Amino acid sequence: MNVVQEWPEPVVRVQTLADAQVIPERYIKPPSERPHPSSAPGGAGSVPIVDLGGLKRGAAERQATMLAVSDACIDWGFFQVVNHGVSLELMARMREVWKGFFDLPMEVKQAYANSPATFEGYGSRLGVKKGAILDWGDYYFLQLSPQSIKNYDKWPSLPASLRETTDDYGEELVKLCGVIQNVLSLTLGLDEGFLHREFGEAGAGLRVNYYPRCPQPDLTLGLSPHSDPGGLTILLTDDHVKGLQVRKGGSWITVEPIPDALVVNVGDQIQVLTNGTYKSVEHRVVVNAVTERLSMAFFYNPQDDLLIHPAKELVADDTYPMYKPKTFKEYKLCMRMLGPRGKTLADAMKAT
Ligand code: OGA
Ligand code: NI
Repeated sequence: MNVVQEWPEPVVRVQTLADAQVIPERYIKPPSERPHPSSAPGGAGSVPIVDLGGLKRGAAERQATMLAVSDACIDWGFFQVVNHGVSLELMARMREVWKGFFDLPMEVKQAYANSPATFEGYGSRLGVKKGAILDWGDYYFLQLSPQSIKNYDKWPSLPASLRETTDDYGEELVKLCGVIQNVLSLTLGLDEGFLHREFGEAGAGLRVNYYPRCPQPDLTLGLSPHSDPGGLTILLTDDHVKGLQVRKGGSWITVEPIPDALVVNVGDQIQVLTNGTYKSVEHRVVVNAVTERLSMAFFYNPQDDLLIHPAKELVADDTYPMYKPKTFKEYKLCMRMLGPRGKTLADAMKAT
């Protein structure tokens, strides 16, 4: 017993396992990591919902909206936004084209198998150590910007409208990220352009997560606990199926899907820039026995080679910066040394 088993590579696509009666051993988490209903006391609340339309409805509402965003970044690191300006029709098309991709025959999808060099393409978790326990999910990752690394050859050519739809969506999300950057900067008591400047020529990537239904959902996770390493993440969730959970104190709080909303969360780089005022909070995904779930995480990140460090203004006179300056590129290397997901900012900082 308990001898570390060596599994043959390559890792199979989880989608091909959904019809089995039991899940393979390498997806079974140790008991302490399984998604038991949390035993922590109730009343932890739910992820705040912010109506961004309030930013345009006069000074008082604008102020209240900004305060709601700021409170959410301090207390949760997460909030859902409605009236966010992104076309609902475009959101629907994104769900449709990407569902279309995951519904294609496996041979077609495998032509886009992800590469360990760029992480782009279709696949399951890369760079796993032999014997590591895997997550119950497949995904597609692609780079949208900077332009110099955007490469359509790494994007699916089917369904036919996928590339155009994804480009249109990316453009709208960059605008939304700009709005959120401005709001966050102002609520920190800094000038509106602060985060925009610190991000430099921002990069953007899209991770489309496909969590197949799972015959034994209580034994595994769709995505292990992690914080997002970058700047801001905007998640287009499945419109019906829940799964995302956010850590709040000792509990895992489920995010209720609101079809027209987007889920925003602060990534590690913003936690560093704000000297820990705004939190990059751990989250995870649980799966279910009934149906698959599709979600799209848009990552908006600082330029790779700019030093990210706590803003002077946010380090009180009698304290110190909590984080060492590091470029986002260096930060990603640290994370990679620690292993592909399931790590947080605190782990990365300890490692250096
Ligand atoms: C991610 C992520 C959550 C989800 O891709 O980083 O946290 O609901 N996704 O799929
Ligand atoms: Ni995440």
